[in-house]
Amino acid sequence: MVPKVLAGRDSCLLCSGAAWPRLKTRQELPPDQVVEALMSEDQLTTEQIDVLLGAAAAAPSMHNTQPWRFEVNGPVIDIYLDGSRALLAEDLTGRAGRIAAGAATFNLRCAAASLGYDSWFGLLPSASEPDLAARIVVQPTDSPDRELNQLFAQIPRRHTSREPVRPVEVPIDDRMALSRAAMAGGAELTWLPADQVREVLALLIDTDLREIGDWHRRAERARWVGGDRSTDGVPSSVLGPRSDTYPAPVRDLGTRPADQTRPTATFETEPALAVLSTAGDSEAGQLAAGMALQRTLLIATREGLKAAFLNQPLEFDDLRRTVQRITGKPGFAQMIIRFGHSTIHATTPRRLLAGIADRS
Ligand SMILES: Cc1cc2nc3c(=O)[nH]c(=O)nc-3n(C[C@H](O)[C@H](O)[C@H](O)COP(=O)(O)O)c2cc1C
Repeated sequence: MVPKVLAGRDSCLLCSGAAWPRLKTRQELPPDQVVEALMSEDQLTTEQIDVLLGAAAAAPSMHNTQPWRFEVNGPVIDIYLDGSRALLAEDLTGRAGRIAAGAATFNLRCAAASLGYDSWFGLLPSASEPDLAARIVVQPTDSPDRELNQLFAQIPRRHTSREPVRPVEVPIDDRMALSRAAMAGGAELTWLPADQVREVLALLIDTDLREIGDWHRRAERARWVGGDRSTDGVPSSVLGPRSDTYPAPVRDLGTRPADQTRPTATFETEPALAVLSTAGDSEAGQLAAGMALQRTLLIATREGLKAAFLNQPLEFDDLRRTVQRITGKPGFAQMIIRFGHSTIHATTPRRLLAGIADRS
C-alpha cells in the first residue's frame, strides 16, 4: 500500500488548496515512503501506462515543444523536464516549460482516476534532481476522485483554438466555474473588463515592436511553428486565419512566408480575456500554475468553450508586471487566456510514447 502522506487528492504537499497557497520551492518526498511504493505489489499494465502517459502527453505546451519525458517504476511515475526542448529565446527562464509540465501532471492524475486509482504527487520532489518536475504515485481505490475522472473525457476534446469565436458572451456561470477551477488549483483567474482588455491589447503592439528586431526569437519560432508536422511543433493548419484588425485577440504565430499570406478573418472586437495568476513565482509555483491551468481548460472544454493564449507580453518581465497591475491584484501573471465558443477543431500532433518514456 502506498501511504497517503505524499500528497492529498486535490492538493499536494506544496499546495494548501486555498486561494493563495504557500508554496515551498522544493519538497523532498519522504524516502521511506517512496521505497515502500516502489516495493509494492501494485504493477501497472502496459495498457494502463499508455493511458496515463498518453493523457500527460496531450497537455498543452508552448509551441507544442512537449518539453517532458517520463519514467515509470511500479506505481511511481516521474515527469522530467527535457532541457533539449527548451525555448531559450522565448522562454529563457523555463517558466512556460514548467507550466506545461504542470498541465501534464494534472492530465495524468485525471487518467489515474479514470483507471480507478488515487494519485499522490509532489512537485520538484528532489533537490538532487532539478529536472524532476513532478512525482506521481498511484494507488488502487474503490472511490477515485469524481471530478478528475469526469475531466479525463475532456482531455482529447481540448485544443487551443486560434479561430474567431461566435459573438456570444461567456456566461457568468461559466466564468465563475472557471474562476473556481483556477482557485481549486491554488491560482486566481481574473476576468478583464473592456477597458482592461484594451490595455492588454495595447501591450501587444509594444511586444510586436520588441520582437521585430529580435532574430533569436524569430528564428526559434520558425523552427517550431509552420509547415506540416507529425510529431511536435505547431503546424500551419492550426494557426487560424490572420486578423483583419490590429492588434488581434489571438497571437499570430506564423513566421514563414506561406503562413504570413494565409487568409484573413474578422475577430471579435471585445474578446473575453482572463489572466491566470499565482501568489508566488517559484519554480514549484509555476508547476502548480500549470496544474491549475489545465483544470481550468478542461472545465472550459466541458462547458463548450475553446481557449487560446495571448501570452506574448508575459515573455518580457516589465510587461508581465504591467499585465498583473492591470488585473488590479497582487501576484504574478502566468497566462493570458481568451475564451469563446467555436465549433472548429484544430489538432496538433504529439510524439510517440515510445520515444519519451522509460518503463521498468
Ligand atoms: C505555457 C504555454 C504558453 C503558450 N503560449 C501560447 C501563445 O502565446 N499563443 C498561442 O497561440 N498558443 C500558446 N500556447 C498553446 C500552444 O501553442 C499549444 O498548447 C500547443 O501548440 C499544443 O496544441 P494544443 O493546445 O491544441 O494541444 C501556449 C501553451 C502553453 C502551455
